[in-house]
Amino acid sequence: MRVLKYTCLKITILLIRDHLKKENITNMLKAITGTKDILPSEITKWKYLETLVADVFTSYNYKEIRTPIFEETNLFARSIGEETDIVGKEMYTFRDKGDTSLTLKPEMTASVVRAFVEHSLGKQQSLNKLFYISAMFRQERPQAGRQRQFHQFGGEALGSTSPMLDAELIIIAYSILSKLGLKDLAVKINSLGVPSSRENYKKLLREFLNDSKNKLSEDSRKRLDQNILRIFDSKVESDQELLKDAPVLIDYIDEESREHFDVVKTLLNQFHVPFEIDPKLVRGLDYYTKTTFEIVSGKVGSQSALCGGGRYDLLVEQIGGEPTPGVGFAAGIERILLACENEQALNLPNENIDLYIIRLDKYLSSKVFDLALNYRKNGLIVDYDYLDRSVKAQMREANKYNARFVLFVGGGEFLAGKLNIKNMGTGEQKLIGLDDYSEIINLVRK
Ligand code: HAM
Repeated sequence: MRVLKYTCLKITILLIRDHLKKENITNMLKAITGTKDILPSEITKWKYLETLVADVFTSYNYKEIRTPIFEETNLFARSIGEETDIVGKEMYTFRDKGDTSLTLKPEMTASVVRAFVEHSLGKQQSLNKLFYISAMFRQERPQAGRQRQFHQFGGEALGSTSPMLDAELIIIAYSILSKLGLKDLAVKINSLGVPSSRENYKKLLREFLNDSKNKLSEDSRKRLDQNILRIFDSKVESDQELLKDAPVLIDYIDEESREHFDVVKTLLNQFHVPFEIDPKLVRGLDYYTKTTFEIVSGKVGSQSALCGGGRYDLLVEQIGGEPTPGVGFAAGIERILLACENEQALNLPNENIDLYIIRLDKYLSSKVFDLALNYRKNGLIVDYDYLDRSVKAQMREANKYNARFVLFVGGGEFLAGKLNIKNMGTGEQKLIGLDDYSEIINLVRK
């Protein structure tokens, strides 16, 4: 009877403990839906990509620009367009204590143009070629390759209508993606012409769709009045069926835009960038004129656009600056890294440290501290044990960090004024004088 009572009590305690554990887990604070921590194990890829982006842009003489994480809401409404998904549905907007409406930036172009106008960059230099790497915020439904906080890199060239810049930016985007090892890429280009030719075309499209208005999805029906070109972005099959025989904008653009587009195509051919013309590529932002483009991956599912951009010759004026043409693109870093993972591209070597110091005798802790400081001062990446672990555990730690060399401090060798250093690649060991810092530093640096 006693045994039974004891067993029941034990089971009850275990159940309560299990329940408390579960409660704790569900109460645990987590990152906000649609945001992600970038953990140390992923940082190597991020840093590699960021360095590559900066190197490629710098080789084309683009200068980096950084703008604040939030702006006045008005900026985005005026530039991206009130009727777009970004402004209409996706912005993180809030009022600060001064009752100003602020928005976390959903994209960079508007911010770059605002900074360009505010600081009169056009007066200091007739052509400004700028690049950026930054976090963006859009309240979209999260899925693979789509987050609420995500990161873009991109470039904007302000001050010239030359189609060479349109081609240059497409080439920059394509070479960054290719240098990462991505192969399953398609470059899609289109031209939206200038607003006057677009207005004529919009009338034609409206006439074409008016008869079948009732067959359009609800979203597309709304777009028919508000932003008719965006109907081409619809994912609804029946909408796409209706659009099959619709007139396409590229057939109605003005002569100047057509000539501009021809030069862009010639330059891309000259640089051997394979591309296809996609007459339905309208893009979801209102500021575009003439060229639009996207580079899509066949390896990331439905969110396939790795980058997108185009020309925006009227935007600077729209934001209050002197009329200044512009062209640019932005690329989603998370999507690119997902494509790299799915294509098994970007296989970087494991990170390693130069030297791990193993303390053989406990009393030598301060000596190890001192040695490490000296090697670090000389530029080596050095670590050692802070947890009073056994020699075996310290050795395991050295292997975990892929230490190139291990330095043993202690034992008879130490008493004889020597340190034993082991090359973990070759297994070779060498005794070096205790105070001979430079010999160790030179050996490890090689
Ligand atoms: P966008 O097409 O809106 O263009 O975004 C560019 C890229 O950012 C997309 O192709 C995608 O890779 C990434 N992206 C967008 N939204 C998300 C999201 N929710 N999660 C993950 N990645 C995302 C622009 O932003 C324009 N400012 C591009 C531009 C620059 N046009 C001229 N200059």
